[in-house]
Amino acid sequence: MNPLSSIISTLLFLFFLLPCSLLLADETLQGCFQDQLGSSSQEIVHTPNTDFYSSLFQLSIRNLRFASSSTSGPLLIVAPTNETHIQASIICCKKHGTQVRVRSGGHDFEGLSYTSADPFVLIDLSRLNSVSIDIEDGTPWAQAGATLGEVYYSIAEESSTLGFPAGYCHTVGVGGHLSGGGVGNMMRKYGLAADNILDAKMIDVNVRILDRIAMGEYPFWALRGGGGSSFGVIIFSWKIKLVPVPNTVTICNIAKNREEGATDLVYKWQNIASQIHENIYLAVTIQAANATDDQMTIRASFRALALWGANETLPVIHNHFPELGLEPKHCTEMGWIQSRLLYAGLPVGSPTKVLLDRSSPSGKGFLYNIQYLSGWQDSGEVKRKMRWVRKLYKYMTPYVSKFPRGQYINTKDLDLGKNDPVKPSYTEARVWGEKYFGANFRRLALVKDKIDPENFFRNEQIKHPTSSTGSVWYCC
Ligand SMILES: *[C@@H]1O[C@H](CO)[C@@H](O)[C@H](O)[C@H]1NC(C)=O
Ligand SMILES: *[C@@H]1O[C@H](CO)[C@@H](O)[C@H](O)[C@H]1NC(C)=O
Ligand SMILES: *[C@@H]1O[C@H](CO)[C@@H](O)[C@H](O)[C@H]1NC(C)=O
Repeated sequence: MNPLSSIISTLLFLFFLLPCSLLLADETLQGCFQDQLGSSSQEIVHTPNTDFYSSLFQLSIRNLRFASSSTSGPLLIVAPTNETHIQASIICCKKHGTQVRVRSGGHDFEGLSYTSADPFVLIDLSRLNSVSIDIEDGTPWAQAGATLGEVYYSIAEESSTLGFPAGYCHTVGVGGHLSGGGVGNMMRKYGLAADNILDAKMIDVNVRILDRIAMGEYPFWALRGGGGSSFGVIIFSWKIKLVPVPNTVTICNIAKNREEGATDLVYKWQNIASQIHENIYLAVTIQAANATDDQMTIRASFRALALWGANETLPVIHNHFPELGLEPKHCTEMGWIQSRLLYAGLPVGSPTKVLLDRSSPSGKGFLYNIQYLSGWQDSGEVKRKMRWVRKLYKYMTPYVSKFPRGQYINTKDLDLGKNDPVKPSYTEARVWGEKYFGANFRRLALVKDKIDPENFFRNEQIKHPTSSTGSVWYCC
């Protein structure tokens, strides 16, 4: 036996003699988890060499640009089933100087909830997905890893005349959606999803579990629209307020090509969509379409959701917007939960259970929210398609909000700017921060300053604590 192998066997021998926790604790990140969680660490913490790791990692990558093998995965994936596991993650990542990313539904447009240039641990909340709708005592709770579909389904199981004003896409995770505001098709009447949050349970960087009273009103304000984990906490549960919906709602769809006057209709729509009765949400999608003669054209598709029956809806739309030519044949009455299926792109009449399927694709004062979308399947198209979207975004500059141009935090865009990885500054972060939050950015940064002064929770666009900003903060 050569000297080296004898050393190795001695080491191995020692390895077996020492209690696991003694040897591993403080040595490796994984050891820290074993130390914190004991035997349950095996079910909760997943290393890259396990099958579960890759299926879990891929499960909610919604933007396939990040599904390629060049995307480097996390060091470990933690799939908590209770708050203890999140606390362990914070303790171990702090100890080992490792970044964390927190993913609920994985819809972050820039993939920031599951990618990072630095080594990181992914906390995937998808198993923390229970929803309890207790209408009797009026305190529904949804865990951060639940999807909107799971919330809608649970509500519909209890009542056909209650709803929750949140987004369309049923696979979006509650955690990111609510903490970023939560735009949806009942917001004209009921506000954003974040306006309908009564309480939340979060874990701060010091692993304290805090609810609304314990955290105080400023942090509670910040976590309803400020972008969740970005400002320094992990929220794992939300208490939500349900809103009344009628037994029957009405959906109307009508599409016109440019040749049929779509341009004038879109122009008129801009003037009436925010003026019409708040029970009606009227949106338009503008996209390329085939004209009848094999030429390409532009089609504007209008869709209304009305919290009324068709008889009440049609005259109101007709009154404001006679040019649209809306007729009874364009409208369908249905229950609120069926309207969720329709907006999610699922066939109406499907059993509502399809809302539970996670595997299918995918601030106040603003009158309109524009989403610029481009899709492709062939990765060779990336450059051309990205160029097109950037061109469109630039082209729209004169027509949208200014000083600053607004942007919805839940449709993040790294084109707006990124933190310097070495020396991030508040002044720089203001450039995109104020696009997302306007004047509230300053207040959010103050909250962040207070609850996560060391900037443990961070990403490419996070608001930096004022401590790293020098005097600039005080003179603006
Ligand atoms: C969390 O789950 C673990 C098992 O993984 C269990 O031992 C522990 O008691 C649970 N903690 C709470 C607060 O429910
Ligand atoms: C136009 O028609 C062609 C041929 O049917 C089809 O491949 C293409 O996807 C259509 N384009 C649009 C924008 O609908
Ligand atoms: C809608 O109006 C028509 C004609 O006035 C009437 O026959 C019908 O019963 C009404 N439907 C509802 C659901 O009120």
